[in-house]
Amino acid sequence: MKTVIISNRLPVKIIEENDEYTFIPSEGGLATGLGDVYKSGNSIWIGWPGIEVPEERQEEVTQKLAELNLYPVFLTQNEINLYYEGFSNEVLWPVFHYVVTYAHFEQTYWDCYKSVNEKFAKSAMQVLQRKDKIWIQDYQLLLLPGILREKLPNATIGFFQHIPFPSYEIFRLIPWREEILNGLIGADLIGFHTYDDVRHFISTATRLLPVNSSSNVLNSNERQIVVEAFPMGIDYDKFSDLTQTEEVKKEIDYFRTGKEDMKVILSIDRLDYSKGILERLKALELLLQLHPEYIGKIELFMIVVPSRDTVPQYSELRDQIDQFVGNLNARYRSINWIPVNYFYRSFPIEVLSALYATADICLVTPMRDGMNLVSKEYIASRNNNDGVLILSEMAGASKELTDAVIVNPNNLGDIMEAIVTALKMPLEEQQQRMTAMRAIVEKFNVKHWVNNFILRLNEVKDSQKSLLTK
Ligand code: G6P
Repeated sequence: MKTVIISNRLPVKIIEENDEYTFIPSEGGLATGLGDVYKSGNSIWIGWPGIEVPEERQEEVTQKLAELNLYPVFLTQNEINLYYEGFSNEVLWPVFHYVVTYAHFEQTYWDCYKSVNEKFAKSAMQVLQRKDKIWIQDYQLLLLPGILREKLPNATIGFFQHIPFPSYEIFRLIPWREEILNGLIGADLIGFHTYDDVRHFISTATRLLPVNSSSNVLNSNERQIVVEAFPMGIDYDKFSDLTQTEEVKKEIDYFRTGKEDMKVILSIDRLDYSKGILERLKALELLLQLHPEYIGKIELFMIVVPSRDTVPQYSELRDQIDQFVGNLNARYRSINWIPVNYFYRSFPIEVLSALYATADICLVTPMRDGMNLVSKEYIASRNNNDGVLILSEMAGASKELTDAVIVNPNNLGDIMEAIVTALKMPLEEQQQRMTAMRAIVEKFNVKHWVNNFILRLNEVKDSQKSLLTK
């Protein structure tokens, strides 16, 4: 009996250079969070390897991935355009992050979303054996629980959504809302990061489907579906230990040399309008305007990891960031100081670790975020218990990390004040807050998250069986 994880993207993706395929880790919370855990257990991961692979090379890719316990679902360029960029990232992503004006409700996107979810089901059926547990991940595969339930009525199916679930008033705007919900309730256990997401989902399902709820259980056609919050964690030990390695120590020295008196503010995100990157830059601009005493004394290290830049709103955002940073730096910089060190690229984990360990402040201000694991990675990297986390109240993580300096990301003055507070915070207070948050991130780590979800899935299945035999 194994666990079969199914997500749109595999935890590795293919990079093609001179006709050669190499596999590198994928970006984003799902892949980084779950990426190491699946290796340790008896599991297989099914998903897309990130590019269109021509038919003649699919066997080669399949074999290479099999060595890593991964099983590919190959998508054509048309499917990438309509299912991935289209329905997943131009309908579900903006609507679930409350940016409804960005949504394009195209029938062709929906048709392709349905057929690609069917395609994932077909691949799963090739791998699945009786008694395997199925764990489906995220918004790209909302229909898959229902499709698999029809094929395998007794299967154990869990579903976890890594992004927010919006309130009913937002969700109801989607033209195919009932079909989506019917797909989801094919699962036995549905998990979200926060209790608010659970609440929104239950109220949406009971208003749009012929189901009723008692507490966090939905009753539908003699099936019971349990809906619960499972806040995702990170590999705490990995981030904490990394800062002690020779390689990372060298990087830390490199960053710090010549900047002993400089206060470093760190920001790391995938390129995404939900992350509040422009707003963060505007808050920094406000700070430099209203508190000129910090000119030359603080530096923002801003890493934006390329993502979905074939979707128009993402490439537009990239251009806006380029422009804003260029303008801000040109106005405020001096010969040997620059306010924003901006990188549009990904970095090896050792460099990220050194930045986490070096930064006096970590600025995490998404407009909306399911969880946000960057905030937890920063905390796990602070072995001296110092440093200040500024965290948006719209991130799921703010429900756990209550000792962060919490801000409303729409309030630029609030972010600016938070930066000033962080810059002035006495070491003792930093340590008090950081120690409390480290204890939480250490305890509720990613292994805890996986074990907790799987344990609950088993319990839910067992209680369903005992209901049937009564
Ligand atoms: C978020 C989503 C993941 C997604 C990741 C990267 O973390 O929850 O499902 O994989 O972003 O986005 P991408 O579109 O590159 O897969």
